[in-house]
Amino acid sequence: MPTINDILKTMDYGPAPESQKEAQAWLDQQGRKFGLFIDNAWTEPTDLFASNNPADGKLLAELTQATSEDVNRAVEAARRAQPAWQGLGGHGRAKILYAIARLMQKHARLFAVLETLDNGKTIRETRDADLPLVARHFYYHAGWAQLQDEEFAGHRPVGVVGQIVPWNFPLLMLAWKVAPALAAGNTIVFKPAEFTSLTAMLFAHICVQAGVPAGVVNIVTGDGRVGEAIVKHEGIDKLAFTGSTEVGRIIREATAGSGKKLSLELGGKSPFIVFEDADLDAAVEGLVDSIWFNQGQVCCAGSRLLVQESVEERFLAKLRARMDNLRLGSPLDKSMDIGALVDPIQQQRIAGLVETARCEGCDVYQPAGCVIPTDGSWFPPTLITGASTSAAVAQAEIFGPVLVAMSFRTPAEAVQLANNTVYGLASCVWTENISLALDVAPAIKAGVVWINTANQFDAACGFGGYRESGYGREGGREGMYEYLVPLSEDQRPAAPVVADKGKAKAAASADPFAIDRTAKLYIGGKQARPDGAYSRAIHGADGKFLGEVGEGNRKDIRNAVEAAHKATGWTKATAHNRAQVLFYIAENLAARGAEFAERIAAQTGAKNAEKEVQAAVERLFYWAAWADKYDGLAHQPPMHGITVALNEAIGVIGIVAPNENPLLGFISLVAPAIAVGNRVVVVPSEAHPLSATDLYQVFDTSDLPGGVVNIVTGSADELARTLATHSDVDAIWRHDGSAAGCAEVERLSAGSLKRTWTGGAKGRDWFSTAQAGGRTVLAHASQVKNIWIPYGV
Ligand code: NAI
Repeated sequence: MPTINDILKTMDYGPAPESQKEAQAWLDQQGRKFGLFIDNAWTEPTDLFASNNPADGKLLAELTQATSEDVNRAVEAARRAQPAWQGLGGHGRAKILYAIARLMQKHARLFAVLETLDNGKTIRETRDADLPLVARHFYYHAGWAQLQDEEFAGHRPVGVVGQIVPWNFPLLMLAWKVAPALAAGNTIVFKPAEFTSLTAMLFAHICVQAGVPAGVVNIVTGDGRVGEAIVKHEGIDKLAFTGSTEVGRIIREATAGSGKKLSLELGGKSPFIVFEDADLDAAVEGLVDSIWFNQGQVCCAGSRLLVQESVEERFLAKLRARMDNLRLGSPLDKSMDIGALVDPIQQQRIAGLVETARCEGCDVYQPAGCVIPTDGSWFPPTLITGASTSAAVAQAEIFGPVLVAMSFRTPAEAVQLANNTVYGLASCVWTENISLALDVAPAIKAGVVWINTANQFDAACGFGGYRESGYGREGGREGMYEYLVPLSEDQRPAAPVVADKGKAKAAASADPFAIDRTAKLYIGGKQARPDGAYSRAIHGADGKFLGEVGEGNRKDIRNAVEAAHKATGWTKATAHNRAQVLFYIAENLAARGAEFAERIAAQTGAKNAEKEVQAAVERLFYWAAWADKYDGLAHQPPMHGITVALNEAIGVIGIVAPNENPLLGFISLVAPAIAVGNRVVVVPSEAHPLSATDLYQVFDTSDLPGGVVNIVTGSADELARTLATHSDVDAIWRHDGSAAGCAEVERLSAGSLKRTWTGGAKGRDWFSTAQAGGRTVLAHASQVKNIWIPYGV
C-alpha cells in the first residue's frame, strides 16, 4: 500500500490564493491609520508606528503608540462602565456575547484574511482553526454569563481588567481573554501586540455593532511601554498576560503587593513523546501539527521530540520524508503548510539559535527543496538531532519551526526527559497502549497532555501551565474563576483579629524540666536541632516565659524542602488514604484538646481557647472530607473523545501561618494543602509557635508520613524570604498579616514563577468556613491538568 508520502510525491499543487480584496478595502476605508478605541470612540491617530505584512514586508497600516495619559483615560472609561455592565445581569451580557459570536462568524473570512496579512500565518490556519475557535469562545462564554448567578453564586466580578497579548494568535488570544472577562461582568483595557493589532481594531467595530456599551471594551495599541502602563496602573484590579516568560517575570515583580489578581500564560518547551508501539505515520502527522503549526510560533508547540530508541531511525526517516513535502510560501495560498514569521527579528533570533546548534556539532536537517521567498521573514522547517539535553536548543523556547529530537529507552526515562525543563505548558504522548498513556500523563509536569493528538483547544477545557509556564487557566470553569472574586473576600476584617484576651491561664506546665525544654524543628518526620544552634524565648500573654523554640535559618529551610521533596509517596497516595490520615490527626488532637487549649490560652491570652481547638478539629474533618471529593471533570469538547481535567497537587508549598489563632490558623492552611497531595514547609505563628511544635507528637501518632509536614520556627520574614527564593518550592502562601512581607514574597516568587497566595494586611476570620474554606482554597492548593483522549483513532 502506498504511504501518504508516496501519494504526496505524485501530486502537484497549483497556487490557490485567497482574495485579499475585502481586507485591503477595509484597511483603505479606515485610511490605514488607527487611533485608540476608548469609550466606544476612536481617538485621532498620532505618534504612529507601522504594521507590516510579514510575507512581503509591505506596510499594511499605521497604529497609535498610546501614552500613559491614554491608558489613564481607558482605565477611567472602564471604571465608569463597570457597575452598569455588571448590573446588566447574566442574561443581558449573554445576549451581547452571543451577538459578538454571531458577528465573528458572519465576518470570519474578513477576519481570517486580515489576520493572515498581519501575522503571516497561513489562511488554512486562520480560517480553519483560529476563527472557529474565536466564535466558539464567545458562544461558550455567553453560556457562562447566562448561568452565572446559578453556577458562580457567591462571587462578583473582579472589576477593571488589564489584558496584554502576544502576536502569535492575535485574535484567538483576544477571544480567550475578552470573552470570560466580559461574561463575568468585568470591563477591559486590552492591548494587542505591536506587530499584530489589526484584527483587534476590526473587533472594536464588532463590539459597537454587537451593542457593547461604551467603556466596557477599550483597546490601546503600542509596544511594551503601553503594557507597562497598564500593569502599573492603580485602577486595574486584575491582569491577564500571555507572552514571554521574561515579561511575565517583570509583571509579577511590578504587581507585587498591589493586590492585583494575576494570571500568566507564558512560554514552553513541550515534549512530544513517541513510544515504539505508536502509529508512527499518525505520530508524524501529529508532529507536523505540533511544531510546524503557525511556524512553530506557538507557546505549546511540541518542540522537543522524544522518540523511543527502538523506532528512532524509522521514525526520523518518515519525519524527514514528510518534511520534504511541507510547502512554504504565500500565507494566502490555501495549499501552503508554512507561512511567514511575524517579523525579521524573530527570523534572526531563530537563525542564531540554529547556528549555535550547528557549531556545537548538532545535525541540522532542512528540506533541500524548500525555496525561501526573497521578501519577508521566513524560516524553513528544521530538525536538529545530536543535541545534548542541556544545549540551548534543547532548553530555550525557540518559537520557530525548529524541532529538536532525542531518544529514550524506557517510559521512566521518557518522563524524566520530558520534565527536564523549567517549563510545563503542554505535552503529547503517542502510543497505542492506553494504559501506558494514562500512566505517563499524570507524571508529566504540564498543564495539558494530548494523547495521540496535538494542539487541540476548546473553550470548555482550561489551558495554562505548570512551573515557569505560568499560572491561571483560560477556558472552562476554572478560567471563569480567574475573573471572579468570592464575596467572602470582601467580608474579611481590615486587620488580623487578635485574641479576645481574658484572664490568661497559667503557663502550660509547672514542671521545671518541661519549661527548660526547647522545642526543636520538625523535618522529615523527625525532631531536628536548628542548624544555627540558636533558640528564641516565647512568652505568654501575661509576660511569663513559656519555653523556647529553635531559630530556624536558611539551612533548616533547605533541609525541610529536601525532606518535603522526598515525600513523593504522599502525592501518589490515594485520596482515601490522605483523608484517613487527616481524620486520624483530628482524633489525636481532640484527645489532647484540653492541653492544646491551655497552651493557646497561655500564649495568646484567649478566652475562647477551647473553641479554637474544637474549630481546628472540625477543620481537619472538613479537609479530610474534601480530600476524596475534589474530583476533576470529564469535558466533551467538539472532538470525538473526552478531555479529563484532573486537579493535581502543586508539589512543595511554603506556608507562613498567621500569628493569631496559632493552632486553627496553622491547621486551616496545612490541612487543605496536604489534603490534595502537596507536601509543606511551614513557618508557624512567629509570636505563638508552641501550638505548632506541640503537634509533632500528634503527627507522629497519626500515620502522617515523614516529610509531608515540615515545621521550621523562627523569624517569619527571614524564613519566608528563603522559601520564596528557593527554586524547589513550587508555591508560597503567606498569611501573617504583614503587608510588606506579602509584597516581598510576591516579588521574590518571580524568580521561579512560584504560585502565591497571600493575605496582605487584612485579617481573616479563621473560624469562618466561608473565609477559610471552600473551593477557593482548594484551587490555591491545586493545578488543573487537562488530558485529551480522542477515541477511535
Ligand atoms: P513579549 O512577551 O515581549 O510580548 C508580549 C506582549 O507583552 C506584547 O503585547 C508586548 O507589547 C507586551 N509587553 C512587552 N514588554 C512588556 C512589559 N514590560 N510590560 C507589559 N507588557 C509588555 O514577547 P515578544 O517580544 O513579542 O517575543 C519575544 C519572545 O517571547 C519570543 O521569541 C518567544 O520566545 C516568546 N513569546 C512567547 C509567547 C507565548 O505565548 N509563550 C508569545 C510571544 C512571545
